[in-house]
Amino acid sequence: MSTNSIWLNANYFSLLSFLTLSVASFQNATVYDVENTIFVDEFWGNYYGNKYRHFSEAWRLQSKEDARNMFYFAYDSYMKYAFPQDELNPIACTGRGPDISNPSNLNINDVLGNFSLALVDSLDTLAIMGNSSEFKKAVQTVVESVSFDLNSTVQVFEANIRVLGSLLSAHLIITDPKQPFGDMRPDGYNDELLSMAHDLAVRLLPAFEKTKNGIPFPRVNLKFGVPNDTITQTATAGAGSLLLEFGTLSRLIGDPTFENAARRAVDELWSRRDAKTGLVGVAIDVNTGKWMGRQSGLGAGADSFFEYLLKAYILFGEERDLHMFTEAIQSIKDHLRRGRKHCNEGQGDPPIYVNVDILSGSMVNTWIDSLQAFLPGLLVLSGDIEEAICCHALYYAIWRRYDALPERFNWQLKAPDVRFYPLRPELMESTYLLYRVTTSPHHPTIL
Ligand SMILES: *[C@@H]1O[C@H](CO)[C@@H](O)[C@H](O)[C@H]1NC(C)=O
Ligand SMILES: *[C@@H]1O[C@H](CO)[C@@H](O)[C@H](O)[C@H]1NC(C)=O
Ligand SMILES: *[C@@H]1O[C@H](CO)[C@@H](O)[C@H](O)[C@H]1NC(C)=O
Ligand SMILES: *[C@@H]1O[C@H](CO)[C@@H](O)[C@H](O)[C@H]1NC(C)=O
Ligand SMILES: *[C@@H]1O[C@H](CO)[C@@H](O)[C@H](O)[C@H]1NC(C)=O
Repeated sequence: MSTNSIWLNANYFSLLSFLTLSVASFQNATVYDVENTIFVDEFWGNYYGNKYRHFSEAWRLQSKEDARNMFYFAYDSYMKYAFPQDELNPIACTGRGPDISNPSNLNINDVLGNFSLALVDSLDTLAIMGNSSEFKKAVQTVVESVSFDLNSTVQVFEANIRVLGSLLSAHLIITDPKQPFGDMRPDGYNDELLSMAHDLAVRLLPAFEKTKNGIPFPRVNLKFGVPNDTITQTATAGAGSLLLEFGTLSRLIGDPTFENAARRAVDELWSRRDAKTGLVGVAIDVNTGKWMGRQSGLGAGADSFFEYLLKAYILFGEERDLHMFTEAIQSIKDHLRRGRKHCNEGQGDPPIYVNVDILSGSMVNTWIDSLQAFLPGLLVLSGDIEEAICCHALYYAIWRRYDALPERFNWQLKAPDVRFYPLRPELMESTYLLYRVTTSPHHPTIL
């Protein structure tokens, strides 16, 4: 369920400083004109015009083998050099945990809570690889050695998607009577992972209980609750992407507390959408309940808010989640989308989704970020395949250019604005979903 990573916070803070900049200088930028066409010019080559490469069966099998080998290299090295710390520092080849000497090192401390994060995060992958002996062993190690009774201040969002989500998915894999990955049930398994998930969620609840308006604080200390001097600004995605895990936990243990808390946070954010444009901001102050700055967009700070609306509907079937999603995506198409009306035909440039002013819908900058590459996958899930294909083509063109996605790409300058790529999964998930849907007999093969 993980959609973001340790870098979320880096984005988040650069985003907050960005919001304080004047937006006026961006407002005259033309989104797309003939000179600035991204897809078909000497800079980009003709990726969009050339159809995708054919993904042969031999290549598919080789890619699968490559993925398996890469996973085992990472997993075995983590267990050898880093466990029980949270993750492996790949340069020094040593373990890495919270930076206790510097509590304000949020980039590290938001994610690494001294709970053997990489092992917890690997459980479902071991199952998907069909490695039942190692899966059972890893579950036993997690149950025996991981505890959340820790003086660690972590981000609610990160702990939710990576730890709570992993514990719940491993529990569901173990208890699924259909055994989709083989027999993954450790001897004597007694719902220990579910109990751990419950324990963790209880420790995250103070983030909700301490606010006046139900929008959770971004961080909690797992032992002491919300720190007195905590930062009160949270990303919309951080506060509004908890429902899949909290809802799953509530339904498994028969206690609606967690689902209710997550739903209330979504409702509170949703009720603050702009009356005219229907857009939500990318960051909000938990105390005042007011958006921070006026940017609205689909990348850092917002992304998984929309993703969770649709995935919650798919998982739980509650109509109101679908209604919110449908309305949100319509506002996005009305105000963020530039370019020609139809994806694959007609005059004008292929579509692009830009960052806009929440009140007016006017463009506020000329970059798209790597996180926004989740969008084609979301469009696939919503059944909007044509739009997904041309939206994916933009990211694919950038990927082909650099063999990576720059963290931020300036489509007007045709150059990266932020030049790192922390192995984000968004484009892969979108590509995978598009691959699954377009390999049906009615659609061409895609990669
Ligand atoms: C935007 O365009 C208007 C009208 O063409 C011009 O007066 C203004 O100086 C421009 N602003 C910027 C920031 O370039
Ligand atoms: C992590 O927890 C272990 C005990 O499980 C402790 O020995 C170690 O000091 C902790 N490390 C950090 C960085 O907090
Ligand atoms: C909890 O951790 C913080 C920072 O790592 C430290 O300053 C504080 O003394 C710890 N509190 C307790 C009760 O151990
Ligand atoms: C399962 O994982 C362990 C640890 O990486 C490895 O030694 C073993 O070969 C794997 N088994 C299979 C069947 O892949
Ligand atoms: C936080 O504030 C409460 C009430 O003002 C106080 O009792 C508590 O000691 C404070 N905690 C810390 C860690 O400063």
